[in-house]
Amino acid sequence: MSNFEVIIYEKRDGVGYVTLSRPKALNAYNIQMRDELYQVLGALKDDPEVRVVIFKGAGEKAFCAGADLTEFLTAPSPIIARQVRWERPVWELFLSINKPIIAALHGYVLGDGVEIAMCCDIRIAAEDVQFGVPETGLGIIPAAGGSQTLPRVIGRAKTLGMLLSGRWVKAEEALRLKLVNQVVSRDDLLPVVEELAGRIKAYRPLALSYAKQAVTRGLDMGLGQGLELEARLGRALISSKQKRE
Ligand code: COA
Repeated sequence: MSNFEVIIYEKRDGVGYVTLSRPKALNAYNIQMRDELYQVLGALKDDPEVRVVIFKGAGEKAFCAGADLTEFLTAPSPIIARQVRWERPVWELFLSINKPIIAALHGYVLGDGVEIAMCCDIRIAAEDVQFGVPETGLGIIPAAGGSQTLPRVIGRAKTLGMLLSGRWVKAEEALRLKLVNQVVSRDDLLPVVEELAGRIKAYRPLALSYAKQAVTRGLDMGLGQGLELEARLGRALISSKQKRE
């Protein structure tokens, strides 16, 4: 277990657990969390012992209630508060990780919470989950990639429906929108996520990495280029398997 203050990072049996841990503030994302997250992401990205990653939130009420509003209020302006967040390329680093990442979501998943969830590959939610992107109502826009990652998951109209109106989405609708892969009871959340992680980590890491890259990088390409990417990765995987054998 690593000694950060607002993130708990643990490694158990090939699984990296990242827990957002400011439960009294509903795990609101502050500058310290940004700095710690940056370190954790760097560590798990290059650690061969970590085959699959689970993101979760500490406490009963929230995965993450968005940007820390107290920092927003103490910064000279919301603009400056936003700029501070851009100083570290956390989201680029997050999206560059080619390992499978599962989000275990419960309670409030707001603003940065949604954006963290969108950087994950598989999202499992508890029945009490509530998603919202309240940024526009605060006079700002998402700054952690949300305006780009969310439409890639749920499409343009559904994203704008949430972003422009600040409307919140509960579990049943989240499933319908494909914002989450699965909804389970609160008690089952971690067991279901861990069971899934257990299945994934049994697979060959390079196959997982290439499968993730084929899908995520391919989504930003035309079909022709995407097919070339798939063929290239497929060939590289086979030749590395032959070399090993
Ligand atoms: N930043 C800083 N502190 C936050 C926070 C945030 N985004 N969200 C919640 N908290 C704190 C509250 O200030 C409160 O602290 P306190 O106990 O010291 O007073 C504590 O977390 C519990 O929150 P509370 O508001 O009492 O819980 P609730 O269940 O009544 O309401 C929310 C939960 C999420 C609806 C409400 O906290 C909220 O609207 N938070 C802000 C969400 C937001 O706009 N985020 C920014 C996105 S860009």
